[in-house]
Amino acid sequence: MSLEISLLTEQDIPGAVECIQRAFEGDPYFLWVFDDQAKFSKKRNVASLHARCQWGINNALFYVAKQPIPAPEEDDNDEDMAVTEDQSKNQDQQKTKKRAVSSSSSRVVGVSMWLPPHPASELESWHSYFQSWILSFRQMLCNIRFLGRGGLNLKRYWIWKECQERAQREVWTDPRGYYFCNVLAVLPGCQGKGIGRKLMDVVMRQADVEDAKCYLESSKGVPNVEIYGRMGFKTMSEMDCADGDVVCRLYCMVREPKLLN
Ligand SMILES: CC(C)(COP(=O)(O)OP(=O)(O)OC[C@H]1O[C@@H](n2cnc3c(N)ncnc32)[C@H](O)[C@@H]1OP(=O)(O)O)[C@@H](O)C(=O)NCCC(=O)NCCS
Repeated sequence: MSLEISLLTEQDIPGAVECIQRAFEGDPYFLWVFDDQAKFSKKRNVASLHARCQWGINNALFYVAKQPIPAPEEDDNDEDMAVTEDQSKNQDQQKTKKRAVSSSSSRVVGVSMWLPPHPASELESWHSYFQSWILSFRQMLCNIRFLGRGGLNLKRYWIWKECQERAQREVWTDPRGYYFCNVLAVLPGCQGKGIGRKLMDVVMRQADVEDAKCYLESSKGVPNVEIYGRMGFKTMSEMDCADGDVVCRLYCMVREPKLLN
C-alpha cells in the first residue's frame, strides 16, 4: 500500500497523537514515568501531546507517514429494486461523495519528530524562547483543565531531565550540534514494514548532505538498539535514571553522517 511522508499539519494532529500513544503503550520509559497506571489520564495525555505537536509544527522537523484508507465496498445489492429517477440521482450523488471522501482520507501510521542541530556556541533565539514559553503555558492550562498532570511522576520526570542533560553534555562533542530524534513511533500492526526507516531517512539524508550527526535516546534495548543500528546509529552511552532501586535505562545513540559522492 502506498505511503506518504509529509510534514505534520494541524489536521494530522489527532492521528499523530493516537499513533504516539499506541506505539508507546508498553514503552519502559513511559511505564517508569507514569508508574501508577491507575492514575494515568489518557485524556490529559492527549491534550499534552496535542500541545507538543502544535509546538512541533513551528519548531521541529515533524513528519507523519500516512496511508490511504481503502474505500468502503459499495453496496450495489439494491440495483434491481425499482427506484424513481430522483432516488437514482440521489444515490449517484451519494456514491460520488463517498468516493471523494475516501480518496482524500488517509490515516497516520507513523510519526517522527526531530530537533534541528543547535551549535553549542549560539544562544537560544528569542523566537525559540518564546515558542517554548507558549508550550509551557499550554501545558499549564492542561494542568488546570485536568486538575493535575494525569499520573506523571514529577520526581522521576526531573530525574530523567537531569540524566538527559548530563548524557548530552558527555555525548554531544560536536560543536555544530546534532539532529535529535525526539520521537519516533509507528502504529502497532504497521511495525516492521519499513515505515520507521522511511520516516528516519528523510532527516538522515538531510544530515548527510550537511555532514551533520544524528542523535537519539531509546529506553527499549530490544529490538530498538538493533533497529537503529541498521540505520547507522551506535550506542555511545547508557543513561541510568534511578529512582531508588527502580532504574530506567536509556540508550544514547549517535549516527555519523554518510560520506556522499
Ligand atoms: C522502533 C520503531 C519506530 C521502528 O519502526 P518500524 O517501522 O517498526 O521499523 P522498520 O520496519 O522501518 O525497520 C527498520 C530496520 O530495522 C529492522 N527491524 C525492524 N523490526 C525489527 C526487529 N523487531 N528486530 C530486529 N530488526 C528489526 C528492519 O529489518 C529494518 O532494517 P533494514 O532497513 O536494514 O531492512 C517501531 O517499531 C515503533 O514504533 N516501536 C514502538 C515505539 C518505539 O519504541 N519508538 C522508538 C522510541 S526511541
